[in-house]
This record gives sequence, structure tokens and C-alpha cells, in this order.
Amino acid sequence: MAPKRQFIPLLLLSLPALFFYSYYHSSLHTPISFTPNPNPNPNLNLNPPKNPNPNSPNFILTIKLLAFDRLDSLSRCLRSLASADYGGDKVNLHIYIDHFAHTDSGNDGSGSLVLDKKLEGSHRILEFVDGFVWNFGEKLVHYRTGNAGLQAQWLEAWWPSSDNEFAFVVEDDLEVSPLYYKFLRGLIVNYYHNTSNFSPSIYGASLQRPRFVPGKHGNKMQLESGKRLFLYQLVGTWGQLLFPKPWKEFRLWYDTHKAKGIKPYLQGMVTTGWYKKMGERIWTPWFIKFIHSRGYFNIYTNFQRERALSISHRDAGVNYGKTAGPDSSLLDESSLDFDLLEMQSLSNLKWYDFCFREVLPGRVVRSFYELGSVLYSVQKHETIVLVSLFTSSEMVIRNLLCHFERLNIWNYIFVGPKSDFLLDLARRGHPVIDADQFFNSIRASKLKGFQESSVELFKEILVKAYVIKKCLESRYNSWVVDGNLLFNSSDLFLDFVDPTYDFYAVKTVELFFVRGSSSVQEIWVDNFMYKVAAMVDSLMSRGSFTREDINFVHVIVKLLEQKGVRIKSIDETSIGLKIDTSSGNGTSHMDVKKMVFWSSEMAWELVQKRLEELGMWILHDSSCMAVVCNQS
Ligand SMILES: *[C@@H]1O[C@H](CO)[C@@H](O)[C@H](O)[C@H]1NC(C)=O
Ligand SMILES: *[C@@H]1O[C@H](CO)[C@@H](O)[C@H](O)[C@H]1NC(C)=O
Ligand SMILES: *[C@@H]1O[C@H](CO)[C@@H](O)[C@H](O)[C@H]1NC(C)=O
Repeated sequence: MAPKRQFIPLLLLSLPALFFYSYYHSSLHTPISFTPNPNPNPNLNLNPPKNPNPNSPNFILTIKLLAFDRLDSLSRCLRSLASADYGGDKVNLHIYIDHFAHTDSGNDGSGSLVLDKKLEGSHRILEFVDGFVWNFGEKLVHYRTGNAGLQAQWLEAWWPSSDNEFAFVVEDDLEVSPLYYKFLRGLIVNYYHNTSNFSPSIYGASLQRPRFVPGKHGNKMQLESGKRLFLYQLVGTWGQLLFPKPWKEFRLWYDTHKAKGIKPYLQGMVTTGWYKKMGERIWTPWFIKFIHSRGYFNIYTNFQRERALSISHRDAGVNYGKTAGPDSSLLDESSLDFDLLEMQSLSNLKWYDFCFREVLPGRVVRSFYELGSVLYSVQKHETIVLVSLFTSSEMVIRNLLCHFERLNIWNYIFVGPKSDFLLDLARRGHPVIDADQFFNSIRASKLKGFQESSVELFKEILVKAYVIKKCLESRYNSWVVDGNLLFNSSDLFLDFVDPTYDFYAVKTVELFFVRGSSSVQEIWVDNFMYKVAAMVDSLMSRGSFTREDINFVHVIVKLLEQKGVRIKSIDETSIGLKIDTSSGNGTSHMDVKKMVFWSSEMAWELVQKRLEELGMWILHDSSCMAVVCNQS
């Protein structure tokens, strides 16, 4: 009797690059590469560990070799590892040998023959590994007693014992370049130990050739020539360097999610389809979901001409029905035509998300002066959406961001008080204005009479007014938008062309439009700003007040009306649906609304409930349920 089933046939045939076979015995040979979404924030509280002497790095690298039943592959892999240049560094080798699955089909004659062959195969592998000499550090062999499968092989291979310990994970059908270690060492020295190039968003580095875009049905990646290093969210499984802190964080996250029965679904990703078919035999969907929720990134190489420092032979019998052979070529001394160790500073590298869309992390505006270039990078059709964080909760804003991605809206910038959340938004690639520092920058030069008025509401109104002033300098249209609303289409921002009015106001929802015209620029001058400050100051000095009495839109509308400027006032119920504490009835409305809004007083849990009823809460476990790669 033959072994039960040799293969689950190809899952994905659409692209040769994605051939993705699975072995019934869940061996380790699943050539999925995942890449991450980037967004580093230099201000995150994670600091790189100090390295007192950069010339002799105080880190230890351990190779985690995951093997199963392919002696030839394993020996080729080990040979390539042993031929690499380690430059005298200590490098450990840990080999994990998975066991074949125990079945109860061994009681007829042919079954036991098969079993004997398998036992013999395993023992030959052990014998080979035992005889294999590793001169560069400690060698450790872990021979399993049962079939662990791919997921456990990866996840259980490492629990970092310090912040200066790194793991390089290779599966047995890989072959590495003799140069691979020098390069990895260079990466660790430059991007982990060098404080000015460190980002807490980076979880490691993949040595395989980057190949596909998981948010675009796994389409082949189009790489420009140019920078030899870049950051991408997807993890690679053909030679992946793992940094200790993010890996530990992942293991804990996995533990929690697994224990609570939360599945790593992420709509729009080809890998979610794999998970639905393969389930727990693969690990990458878990890691991808984690990376997506954290906004982390992986370092990748772009050596051109399909060259890489690690390649997979995609050997027959395990992942592949017949030998597929490598889809990349090894970069070695003979084909090296550039300086492998020349590493650009992190600020020069590009970051890409699961859609291979460029992400621009770390845009934090702290002064009027810094604002211009960020507005330029953000505007679309010369329009900017300024989203206020002053009265919105974190979860509501996260949900808003999922809608922006869904609607392909990217021309937004957040403004809010300095907070960890604000900085985390910037780390993930969303531009932000730190209202506290921005306010200080304008107060010193432009608001001399108002030193005492550093009340938050005063700050908020003045900062918004100055941001608009900056937009006007470049003739950008601006929308000032409160965080307590959601748009149901992107029309509002792009199709606002009725030129009769320069200003549109929706007072109760604090929505305001300013046309980027020269006539408006003539109104919005320093003297006008001064009047804004004076009015807010005097309104506040009357004693107790609420946002109903004093807010940005009220103050600006009042002042503009005093000047005789025409403003188009829009009734919020004509364009929006208000949700409140009473349940359910929002869903019964017949007309499609452009937006949904609610009072800033409403608790976010209640907002979530109402939005769920409308199908507009698209956040799951604090991150977007879907990756949406719009046509670019
Ligand atoms: C750290 O990185 C910066 C920026 O790339 C670079 O100028 C500096 O020389 C690096 N320091 C060391 C010790 O390599
Ligand atoms: C909607 O409101 C009506 C009263 O105006 C109420 O009878 C009904 O139960 C509400 N529907 C839901 C789904 O709550
Ligand atoms: C949002 O738009 C969709 C279709 O465009 C519509 O079905 C839905 O009812 C709208 N939602 C609201 C709250 O108006």
C-alpha cells in the first residue's frame, strides 16, 4: 500500500512564481514569501540596544535550519552554509529535523516496508548531520519525536534570549551565497546597532529575491532598478533574518490569538486563501496578520538580474511535484559588480506595503516652516483633507483610516495633540501635525499678545487656521474635517467644483471647505489670524463653554460674515446620517448618504455598535479587516 497521499496538488496555478505545493506530511517546504508594510517612527519608545564597539559587534547569530526528509537537499544546504565567509565571528547552527507522521497503516506487509524505508531515511539524515563538522560555533541537533509541521518548526525554532541575538532561518532546500553572512552582519551593524538608522518598525531581512504582491492576487512584483535595499511588509521564507524583539512580540501575539480562537484572516490577501486551504500547516498567514496590525517592515534586496543571496531549489517530492529548480541565481564573488556592504542610510530607503504601495513613514510636522513640503507630498488634485484628532478616540480614527484605504483617499493629514498614538500614526506612514509644537512655533512669532491662552481649544483653532494659511500659499483647497465622522464615498473631496463659493461650512459636524484661490489668500492673512485669536480669547474669557459654543467652524464663519464674505452653509442632514444612542434606525433610511457622523460625546464602543449595524465598522482586533490595493 502506498503512503496515504503524497501531495496536495498545486493550490495556485495562476502564476509560475507562486507555485505553492503542500506536502501531506506538512513538511517545511512552503515557499511563501511574505513581505511587510512599513512605517517606522523614530520616536517610538523602542531604542536599539547599545553597542559599545561597532567594530566587533556584540551580537550572536544562530542559523535555524529546518529539515525533514530530504538528505540531498539538506547536504547541499549545509555545504553552502559551511562555505560562507564568517570573518571569524561566532555563528551557531541549530538543525531541526521533523519526524514523519505516525500512521496506523503499518500492519500489512507493504506498510511496514514503507515504514522501514522512512525510518532508514531519518536515520541516514541523523547520521549525516552528526558527522557534519561545523567550525564556526555550536552545533545543535533537535530531532523531533512526531510530525511537528511547518508552523511549529518555524515558531518553535526560536525564543530570543537577549536583544542582541538574531536568528537566520533556512529551510533545507535553500542554498546560500558565500557572501550571505557578511551581508547580514552589515545589515545588523547598520540598521540595528546604529541608532541613527534604527527603526522599531523593522522586523528583519529577507535574502530571497522579492517576488510577489500578496494584496494584488500575488501578482509579480515590478521592481525598478535603483536602490539595492528597500523595505517591504511581506516576510520571506527563503532565508529570513529575524530581529529578536519583533519575533518575541509575534510569538506572544500568536499565543493570544491562537488561544482565543481568532483566525489570521486578512481580506484582500492571497495568503488568506492559502490559510483557508492549508490551515495550521503553514505559519505565514499568522505572521502576515501580525505585521499588518503592527505596521512592521522587512528589509529586502534588489540586486537586479534575478540575483539573490539565498535561493530555493524547490526540490521535487516535497513542495514541488517535480523539481522546479531555482527561480533566482546566487550572487557570489564572480557575479558581484557592486559594493555589497555599501548601505544607504535608512532615511534614503523606500518603504512598501502589502500592495507594494509606497509608504512614507515618520512625517511629523512640528512647525509652520516644516508644513509646506509635507502638504506637497500629501495633496491630490491640489486638495488637502485636514483631519482633527482632538475629540476622537483612537479606535474611531483607526476605523476612519480603513475607510480612507477602502475609498482610495490618501490626501489627508492628521492634526492633534502630541501623544503616542499621534506618533504611531506617523510611524505607520500617516502624516501628522503635532499641534503642541506647531502652536509653539507660531505663538513665538505670530501670536505675541496671547501667551496666556494655551488652552487646548485655543491651540486647536489657531493651528487649523495656520494650516489653512499654508495650504493657501500653495493654492491648495482644504477640508477641515472632524474625526467623528466617516465618509461613504470620496466624491466630497474631489468633486467639489461649484465655483460660486469659496467657503462651505457644515457647522454641527465641524466640516469646512476653503478654496485655494487668490481671493481667499487675500483674506487669510496674519491680521485675520490675529482676529481669530482675539475672538477665541474673548469667547473663552466669558467663562464656561462647550464645543457647541466655540469651535473652529463657528469662529471662522462669524469672522468671515463680519467681513461680508459669502459662505455656503450646508445642512448636515442633507448629506449625512447622524447616529446616536438610539439603536438601529439608521439602517432603515432610504437615501444613500455621503457621510455618517456622531457627537464627540458618544462613547466609542457605542459608535462601534452603531457603525457595525451600518456595516461601517471595518476594524477587527484594532486593525483593518482588509488590505485594499486600489488601482494606482
Ligand atoms: C550610522 O548611520 C549614519 C547614517 O547613515 C552614518 O552617517 C554613520 O556613519 C553611521 N555610524 C556608524 C558608526 O557606522
Ligand atoms: C426604529 O424606531 C421605531 C420608532 O421610531 C421603533 O419602533 C423601532 O423598533 C426602531 N427599530 C429598530 C431596529 O430599533
Ligand atoms: C454607503 O454607500 C453604499 C453604496 O454606495 C450604500 O449602499 C450605503 O447605504 C451607504 N451608507 C450610508 C450610511 O448611507
